[in-house]
Amino acid sequence: MRFENRLVLSAMAGINNAEFCRKQKASLVVLGGFNADEGAMEAARRAAERGREEFIFPDPLEGIEREIRALGRKKFAVNVRSATIEGYLDAAYLVESYSGILEINAHCRQPEFISARCGEWLLFNHEKLLEIVKAVSKITTTSVKIRGGHNMDYPALARKLFEAGCDAIHVDAMIPNGGCNFELIGAVSRYGFVIGNNSFTDIESGERMIRAGARMVSAARAVLRDRNFFEKMLESDLLSQPVEL
Ligand SMILES: Cc1cc2nc3c(=O)[nH]c(=O)nc-3n(C[C@H](O)[C@H](O)[C@H](O)COP(=O)(O)O)c2cc1C
Repeated sequence: MRFENRLVLSAMAGINNAEFCRKQKASLVVLGGFNADEGAMEAARRAAERGREEFIFPDPLEGIEREIRALGRKKFAVNVRSATIEGYLDAAYLVESYSGILEINAHCRQPEFISARCGEWLLFNHEKLLEIVKAVSKITTTSVKIRGGHNMDYPALARKLFEAGCDAIHVDAMIPNGGCNFELIGAVSRYGFVIGNNSFTDIESGERMIRAGARMVSAARAVLRDRNFFEKMLESDLLSQPVEL
């Protein structure tokens, strides 16, 4: 899969639908987070009830397919939560039929998703995460979104994820009190294709993530602050380079 620049729009539940993503100049956009089964959808309903923005679809897969179709020709990943492995598999077949990437969400930390055994729950249950990665990567191009900032052996996890068949790891290299852990990006990048994430706010921070070892860099909050964010980042020669996954 070839991308025309190193820029990625990172997932934002309740915001990253086709209409929002289509306007972005990033070569890869992440739709969602979406929920692929009833368990994850119910967790999203409860999160929405307390004010969190979420995509609530009456039929999870139908809703995801509608957004993919509305996106047009842009290269995309779909950020997916599911309480069951079947949800990931259904979403993987769907995404594959549109030549997309399935991004397994091992990142969301809202209590509703943790108790539904998805999102960051997977980061603490490696066996389950690896089982999902092995199954999904047989079906479609697979990325895993993980969160930094925990006391765990991230390089060992990265090695296992790539061995299990994932094509890319999307690392939210957050530092608990703010900022980006560039060393973590470097450490994980030794094992395969990494999309670096957190606090990419200008050309300098984006280029620093690439120099740390990431092949692509993603942004979420910066795009909410400035809808022309990616256009401005394309002034960088390094961030404008094409890249092959
Ligand atoms: C409103 C909002 C919703 C988000 N929803 C998701 C999500 O559904 N799935 C996910 O993996 N990350 C989600 N994230 C996390 C972002 O993708 C990103 O990892 C994080 O904001 C750090 O990157 P940034 O510094 O560029 O914002 C969300 C972030 C925001 C601000």
